[in-house]
Amino acid sequence: MNIQALLSDKVTQALVAAGAPADSEALVRQSAKAQFGDYQANGVMGVAKKLGIAPRQLAEQVLTHLELDGIANKVEIAGPGFINIFLDPAWLAKQVEAALADERLGVAPVKPQTIVVDYSAPNVAKEMHVGHLRSTIIGDASVRTLEFLGHNVIRANHVGDWGTQFGMLIAYLEKMQNEHANEMDLSDLEAFYREAKKHYDEDAAFAERARAYVVKLQGGDEYCREMWRKLVDITMSQNQKNYQRLNVTLTKDDVMGESLYNSMLPGIVADLKAKGLAVESEGATVVFLDEYKNKDGEPMGVIIQKKDGGYLYTTTDIACAKYRYETLGADRVLYYIDSRQHQHLMQAWTIVRKAGYVPDSVSLEHHMFGMMLGKDGKPFKTRSGGT
Ligand code: ARG
Repeated sequence: MNIQALLSDKVTQALVAAGAPADSEALVRQSAKAQFGDYQANGVMGVAKKLGIAPRQLAEQVLTHLELDGIANKVEIAGPGFINIFLDPAWLAKQVEAALADERLGVAPVKPQTIVVDYSAPNVAKEMHVGHLRSTIIGDASVRTLEFLGHNVIRANHVGDWGTQFGMLIAYLEKMQNEHANEMDLSDLEAFYREAKKHYDEDAAFAERARAYVVKLQGGDEYCREMWRKLVDITMSQNQKNYQRLNVTLTKDDVMGESLYNSMLPGIVADLKAKGLAVESEGATVVFLDEYKNKDGEPMGVIIQKKDGGYLYTTTDIACAKYRYETLGADRVLYYIDSRQHQHLMQAWTIVRKAGYVPDSVSLEHHMFGMMLGKDGKPFKTRSGGT
């Protein structure tokens, strides 16, 4: 039901009945302020001018002919001859009910595309912060809308489940398990992370063990894999509680964390080198991009492999875009991430396009949002607690 069109017809009929020409325009618009009703007809003044009569007089005549019984519960003239229309809530409710009775809400399905939506993406052994919350809510709203339109939507929860911090986290989990015979309570993830970091910074033996564990984990060591799994599972079951509470549609099956792309990374680096896109620079492997200049006006270097062999967040996002096209068959990929990561994504995708990993016909879209700022105008710091 198009209410504006309905009211336009009604007011035009009343204008004609009041002596206006048949092509008179009622100019019905939604009112800008509640005090002017839900809609207002602004056409009376123009018509009165043409007819050479006083606008308010014409407006009064229009009111005597205006048939809005049951639709509006109040109609009044304002100013030089505006007509303010206040809809009857009971009538409005009936229109909503009628719309809901149609399960498509009057929306026709579209030609389906495969759309991958990257959203939420919290990090392991950390509480979701407000940025993740925004991504989660906006992303889930998009996912529901796209599915309603008839698209094949793939939810991709790009969980931060990889990186050098896992050595420290595994070492701390081990310490906790040794000290507490029965399964310990990991409900306070922030405290867990904080304590692990503290031990890493202050206890040399612990730090050494942590470093050894990273290497073992990356090498596929069974024990370290199992400890890592535990950390991911605990974090994700806590996140799952939040998703349920927020009525967000993400499930465990939607987790496609950073670790998923590990096996692709050596091949990507080798391929970028072979294509002449990546070069060795001070021991690291770097892609220099003309599109981005550093402070000195030189092409900016994007590191894809560190001197010590480690890969970076960008390397993972290059692999991830490739995977979403090649393996998931995406027609479009939507990323819901805050605006601070815009340059990171643009650099990763510039490399992706140059390497030919994703064709131009497939769009990679950063749907960014801003930050939630504290009273001091700075981003909330969940790490320091309290927020
Ligand atoms: N885990 C990341 C963070 O907390 C967000 C990941 C967003 N997705 C991506 N493909 N980079 O900042």
